[in-house]
Amino acid sequence: MSSALKARIVSVGHYLPDDKLTNADLEKLVETNDEWIRTRTGISERRILKDPEKATSYMAVEAAKEALQAANVDPESVNAVIVATVTPDYMFPATACLVQKRLGAVNAFGYDILAACSGFVYALSTGAMMIESGRYKRVLVIGADKMSSIIDYTDRATCIIFGDGAGAVLLEGTTDGTGVMDFIQRCDGDEDELLCMKGGGSRYPSSHATVEARMHYITQDGKTVFKKATEAMADISLEIMERNQLAPGDVAWLVPHQANQRIIDATARRMGVGNDKVMSNIQFYGNTTAATIPLCLYDWKDKLQRGDNLILSAFGGGFTAGSLYLKW
Ligand code: UT7
Repeated sequence: MSSALKARIVSVGHYLPDDKLTNADLEKLVETNDEWIRTRTGISERRILKDPEKATSYMAVEAAKEALQAANVDPESVNAVIVATVTPDYMFPATACLVQKRLGAVNAFGYDILAACSGFVYALSTGAMMIESGRYKRVLVIGADKMSSIIDYTDRATCIIFGDGAGAVLLEGTTDGTGVMDFIQRCDGDEDELLCMKGGGSRYPSSHATVEARMHYITQDGKTVFKKATEAMADISLEIMERNQLAPGDVAWLVPHQANQRIIDATARRMGVGNDKVMSNIQFYGNTTAATIPLCLYDWKDKLQRGDNLILSAFGGGFTAGSLYLKW
């Protein structure tokens, strides 16, 4: 018996720059130490895209190419490209348009989604709805961020956390009962400086003054963000489990945004999901913003079995939050 049309992830791709920024490297830049970073965040190293000629679109294209190759799919058959990012190559045109061109996805349109660390969940739900509508057959969903382009490497509250990377998934329709089953998305916007980059938009256009005031870098109130993220990721994940009658034992994998290992642990604990069912690679890549979740899917893809219940969960600037129930 066939079920309603759903969007299934048919392949995953990734890109990580070769250059590593270790905790020992950071000790030379700011007053910090390896032990503090590891125990407070779980991070040992991050990847940095050092080539000044390369930006977010480069990583997004590499990740997308790998996803297309893995599915043995021609770029011309892709209908849409969605890129989640807070570090687009330009204010406009959208990074998705650059990716579309470089991939040779000549029949696709594309746009960016700006939802910070929840960006991939928002983009995946958008891509899934495109497929479910029956209007589009193949959608590329990419999470990519060159966080090093907006990090102040004199600010120890932020520079220890973030890294660069990209992940991509290819969506196609299925009626076999798998795919994106449900999602919950929220935001709670305000203009204060809990987690933001103020300069360069229409409110504070780039000027000597904005540069001097260091407004083109991320700033965050780590403690407040930590508290909000811990509550929101657990709440929204429990809500989607309850709504879909999923007991902890029904969850094969929690795929959490990788902001801090302590946030990941607290989310899993509240969900009742054991550590052996939690994807975490924050140790090696840090927080790559929109790329964390697809990078986890990439690293775990060989362990995933058809029909496994995955809960994706994220929280980030906005404040945005999203959980998504996916049957692999
Ligand atoms: O993806 C969403 C975006 N961001 C997040 O989700 C980040 C959420 N927040 C966090 O992950 C954590 O709040 C941080 C990792 C940013 C900070 O950890 P924390 O446990 O909240 O530390 P704290 O800010 O409360 O600082 C504790 C102490 C302070 O010293 P005192 O006042 O106790 O003497 C800080 O000055 O640690 C000090 N500190 C550091 N020490 C060494 C702060 N940053 C550092 C550092 N190295 N890098």
